Amino acid sequence: MHTSTETDLNRTASQGFEARFGRVPAVVAFAPGRVNLMGEHTDYNGGYVLPMPLGLGVSVALGPGDSPGDIRFASAAFEAEETRRVDEAATGAWSDYVLGALKALVTSEITEAGLCVFVASNLPMGAGLSSSAAIEIGTLRAAAAMFSKPADPVDFALKARAVENDFVGMPCGIMDQFAVSVGAPGNALFLDTRTLEYHPAPLPEGYSFLVIHSGVSHQLTDSGYATRVAECKAACTALGVEMLSDLDDDDLPRIDAIAEPLNRRARHIVTDNRLTRDGLAVLEAGDAVAFGRLMVGSHATERDNYQITVPETDALVAAAVADGALGARQTGGGFGGAIVVLVADEAVDGFSARLAAAFPATRLLAVT
Ligand code: GLA
Repeated sequence: MHTSTETDLNRTASQGFEARFGRVPAVVAFAPGRVNLMGEHTDYNGGYVLPMPLGLGVSVALGPGDSPGDIRFASAAFEAEETRRVDEAATGAWSDYVLGALKALVTSEITEAGLCVFVASNLPMGAGLSSSAAIEIGTLRAAAAMFSKPADPVDFALKARAVENDFVGMPCGIMDQFAVSVGAPGNALFLDTRTLEYHPAPLPEGYSFLVIHSGVSHQLTDSGYATRVAECKAACTALGVEMLSDLDDDDLPRIDAIAEPLNRRARHIVTDNRLTRDGLAVLEAGDAVAFGRLMVGSHATERDNYQITVPETDALVAAAVADGALGARQTGGGFGGAIVVLVADEAVDGFSARLAAAFPATRLLAVT
């Protein structure tokens, strides 16, 4: 489905490409961002997640290059153009996400002829909405179209995760890349990250999910993300399991007996995993009120057990619930970024206006 955002952003990428490189692009491809409704940090623990694609996203325009092995990168967001070799290592620049994805699919084609890339995005970076996964999947889609490669969505999700883990050095799970590549607008996507079994989860009729930036940006590669990954591994060792999603509520007494903070980390995974499984059930039953309650529980375990919230997102979630929202929680990798709030359709306008007045640093990013 082509949303108007997608069409507009593709046009921006195409025009930007032409203005920068003086020729029309060969292809343009779009990939959405995502908001996660439930199941945070469960994905690298073999657990469940419940993300939803957004209308916001990234468009990638590609066209022939000027010299073999060279890739010229430009973007609507950054003035400076960069040229990099296809065999270069990661540098920490935004173009790493594009370069890593290109290397995964079309290294030999670029080695022969070079490539020009122009990226346009309306996804804020550092909001927890998977801007990096959207760049990777958009690049894979565009490269597959340009060089007539097979474009299997699950394979692209796996490739994009490998770009993060092995090229960029971000030890993330599969959720973002999977949601962006496989998810369909209008539904959430329930994914078992252990088996990669997935199916669409219906959104409640008459209600909207609001994505609100807290004003605090996160930077996952610098943040506690890698620490949490390491803590989960240590908790597995302490508990004698391969993955924390092997555990359930019956294991909570022995989880509580291991050392701080590993006990909290394991408790979070068990708790959020259960909430996510229950979340799917109540979405399927069309019970928005119950889903909202689960979201509030999910925020509490993010805050108290996984300790990935910040005072600003805690305050926003509390204010949203006090204002009458059905539920609210911090979404994404954490340490800031966005919250997601469930509100009845007729309450959206009033709710957003009151929140903006009470919290001027916040920004409403999406209503789905
Ligand atoms: C980031 C990572 C995901 C996932 C979330 C937290 O978005 O990229 O793999 O771990 O954080 O749920």
